[in-house]
Amino acid sequence: MGSIAVQEETIGEGRPWWKAATFYQVYPASFKDSNDDGWGDLPGLLSKVDYLHALGVDCIWVSPIFESPQKDMGYDVSDYQKIYAPYGSIEDVDTLVAACHDRGMRVILDLVVNHTSIEHAWFQESRSSKDSPKRDWYIWKPARYDSNGLRHPPTNWRGYFAGSTWTWDEHTQEYYLHLYAPEQPDLNWENKECREAIYEDTMRFWLRRGVDGFRIDTVNKYSKRTEYVDATITDPFSPYQAAPEMWCNGPRIHEFIREINQVLAPYSAVSVGELSNTPDPKGVLPYVSAKAKELDMVFEFSVIRLGNGDLFSGKYIYKPFPLSQLKSLTEKWQCFIEGTDGWTTVFCENHDNGRAVSRFGDPSTPELWRASAKTIALWQTTLSGTLFLYQGQEIGMTNMPTSWDITHYKDVEAVSFFAEAMASGDEERIRKTRHGLGILARDHARLPFRWNEDENVGFTTDETNSWMRIPQERGISVESQSGDEQSVLEFYRRTLALRQEHQETFVFGTHQLLDRENESTWAYVKEGFVVGRDGTEVRRRALVVMNFTAKMAPLMDVSRALGCARDEVRLMVTTGGKEEGLDDGALSAWEGRVYCDFDLDMATSDSRHL
Ligand code: GLC
Ligand code: CA
Repeated sequence: MGSIAVQEETIGEGRPWWKAATFYQVYPASFKDSNDDGWGDLPGLLSKVDYLHALGVDCIWVSPIFESPQKDMGYDVSDYQKIYAPYGSIEDVDTLVAACHDRGMRVILDLVVNHTSIEHAWFQESRSSKDSPKRDWYIWKPARYDSNGLRHPPTNWRGYFAGSTWTWDEHTQEYYLHLYAPEQPDLNWENKECREAIYEDTMRFWLRRGVDGFRIDTVNKYSKRTEYVDATITDPFSPYQAAPEMWCNGPRIHEFIREINQVLAPYSAVSVGELSNTPDPKGVLPYVSAKAKELDMVFEFSVIRLGNGDLFSGKYIYKPFPLSQLKSLTEKWQCFIEGTDGWTTVFCENHDNGRAVSRFGDPSTPELWRASAKTIALWQTTLSGTLFLYQGQEIGMTNMPTSWDITHYKDVEAVSFFAEAMASGDEERIRKTRHGLGILARDHARLPFRWNEDENVGFTTDETNSWMRIPQERGISVESQSGDEQSVLEFYRRTLALRQEHQETFVFGTHQLLDRENESTWAYVKEGFVVGRDGTEVRRRALVVMNFTAKMAPLMDVSRALGCARDEVRLMVTTGGKEEGLDDGALSAWEGRVYCDFDLDMATSDSRHL
């Protein structure tokens, strides 16, 4: 296995800032409300910048804050240059950027340009008539008619939020394409004028205002296959079929992304693209290879989609998975950049998935909840690539309690999938969908952030105003965990600092999975190099070993795994209380530890980063 730390592109000071940075995603509606309307806002976020700074966050990614009818929580933008009033004003964005820059932090915005809102002026114009100069900015197609003269959409494609990807427009008598909700019409990237407008009005507008880059929504769906033919029937019970091959990684996608790169490059803006339906490294590398000049990094979804059912329509039929699958997928997306000039990302939460501790950990008792949330922290903070945390992950926020009924799910996707199941009349499907939503729904991550232990959890003043019901699990809050050395929050602070201190090993190192069939313990070796005092390269290894069960588990032979003498082994960190235990031979329930083969106090004094 080659070392990625010593490649041309990463040697010396030439590394871009975002590789070792810790990013933190803020879902603004649920983070902090400053004016008691029950909806989080920019002044609220601004008041927590110091909190994020102290946590060790280098860059904040703010989910969409633009003018929007909020059919999909702002992923339906009606004006890219205005801020949705409940979030605040454009001056608030300037203030946020300045406050972050003052602290050496950065801010990226969410760029949603596969589609706009139906209320965007471009779409209004496009739908006004077939001769509108902007008609071709969206994807319009005539109807198909069957032998009975009945009208049908141009293709049989199923949209992400159930139903057809096509909606009939009475006024101009054509269908328009929308991969998501009918209120989110897809832009036609084949049209050059439309692309230029996107670059100028959405990207440069914000770059000129000083933002540091973008998380780019649905980045591989801009180039559709232009034949517009039916997808193969994979779900015989539905008129609509999964068709990602018709719109993911289409024929012109790399051309379009290189154009985006040219827009970002003069501003040295960072880009991280959302790359779904691309589970093969061969398909991912072209996007993230430095030479290709496309994207700095992408989110690949194999790990975060674990547990999701098959195909589009089965997404919420929960599919249990063994630990070995989580391990091997992690390994796959760790190792795929080794020996290349590409880069990877590390994340296990975002606004589109259930909470990590409820999916990969064990929130069944307060003790197991805490131990498993810390072990998840250890897993994430020891992996190679750029780390992304999602708000609330650092305090171990959980999914909504199973006692909450379906009316607490607000997300367009959850609502559509549940309605579809109900409409089927199939009791089994309804039950399974309800169960799957309880684990996987996007709503879980969107519950208000728990700042303190009050009824309103410090999110807003009057909890009855909150746009989503407020979770009341005691002990899961910033206030109750701050200063408690055993807490999830303090553990994140500590491991984030260790990650920075030993970044050659953790961020830039190689990843070697051990004991891959073991279904209870997870172990891997991270290896990197630093330059020693005498100018020679010094190898630094760390063994990460984690018990992913609620029972005691035997500890492997640590010195053997690290390939060093027993007296060279050091315990770097453990999720358990005691730090001295080296030879205790067992891991307690959900305990995780990191051992290394070097003296810890030497890390910074005796060496420098490559
Ligand atoms: C992305 C977003 C998701 C949104 C969708 C449509 O997947 O992360 O929240 O619903 O794009 O914009
Ligand atoms: Ca507010």
